[in-house]
Amino acid sequence: MLVEKNVPLQSSNSFGIVAKALTLVRIGSEADIAAVLQNPALHAGPTFILGGGSNIVLTGDVKPLVLKVEITGKRLVKETDKAWIIEAGAGENWHELVTWTLQHGFPGLENLALIPGTVGASPVQNIGAYGVELQDRFDSLDAVDLSTGQTFTLNAAQCAFGYRDSVFKHASTPTDSGAAGFGLAGKALITRVRFALPKLWKPVLGYADIEKKRLQSKVEEPTALQIYEWVCEIRRAKLPDPKVIGNAGSFFKNPTVSPEQCEDIIQRDPKIVHYQLADGSVKLAAGWLIDACGWKGKSIGNAGVYDKQALVLVNRGGAANPVTGGEVMTLAKAIQTSVYERFGLRLEPEPVVV
Ligand code: EPU
Repeated sequence: MLVEKNVPLQSSNSFGIVAKALTLVRIGSEADIAAVLQNPALHAGPTFILGGGSNIVLTGDVKPLVLKVEITGKRLVKETDKAWIIEAGAGENWHELVTWTLQHGFPGLENLALIPGTVGASPVQNIGAYGVELQDRFDSLDAVDLSTGQTFTLNAAQCAFGYRDSVFKHASTPTDSGAAGFGLAGKALITRVRFALPKLWKPVLGYADIEKKRLQSKVEEPTALQIYEWVCEIRRAKLPDPKVIGNAGSFFKNPTVSPEQCEDIIQRDPKIVHYQLADGSVKLAAGWLIDACGWKGKSIGNAGVYDKQALVLVNRGGAANPVTGGEVMTLAKAIQTSVYERFGLRLEPEPVVV
């Protein structure tokens, strides 16, 4: 096991923020985790698990021990009547996995093409796009308990998936209200994830952007590969490529309100983009709210609001003069204040602030 000191993280976070990991260990297998846990100097303090760094804002050097997950491998592990079960190492690149599954004839992940980040991070925030969420294709995952070194497996129910949420986003410590926390944040390292990809595959259409592509191309029954290509085209047109313009994808979650609250907002802003949810509540498009407050294209220091999608905050200084985590958070807070003052809604950030 190699213990690295003062490791630059600029190329390990998709914003391109300059920061260092004071101590970093690369995790290529369960044996590497065991070696860390057997080393009292490393095991004593807190840890921070780093995947693709595509959903984090670094506000300074990272003092907890950084475990950089680099576990690889992609394979078909099982076939049932209904599904192919595909397993991938947590360190695999998400988009490469999506491409690989389609090349091998396993459809189901096409709507999730081009989402930045790693396989291990995908269940943490239950990634989703164009009508499909990770939980719709999830089978199970393996993880290691960082306090005991035990390996365990979780099914979907045990992961407690929600909208951009899972058990891995919640602390295990008691909450402010005194209730016992149920979470695994910082407590477990995901090593492998298994996906159940349906043999009776049906395209997930219906999203406005996808429907537009379908009408333009006049394809009645698109294949999984066709949808994959459309999703790649849509994302490339509307979302900045982190390799070119640093960003962490959507910066805020889309807020959910009651029908009464929504009605109240519609009275004032009839054009608000909203979607009815199955449980009766209404989801509002945070990008629209931010756009309506006039933030699109604006900047604070080197932190900017992307000019084609107001939900995405970007690094306007590039690699040479990069944005700081402080600038990103100052911009995020200014946006939250505007949206609160105009709509009475508190936007919740999606990335983890480190
Ligand atoms: N809109 C505006 N102005 C903007 C941005 C959006 O008016 O500046 C409007 C759009 O016109 C559209 C609506 O808001 O009517 C929703 O926009 P979009 O379809 O781009 O989707 P989104 O709700 O902003 C969500 C996910 C994305 C995912 C897309 C497609 C969240 C927080 N974001 O974005 O996920 O790719 O749907 O499914 O749920 C991510 O999480 O990093 C991410 C990119």
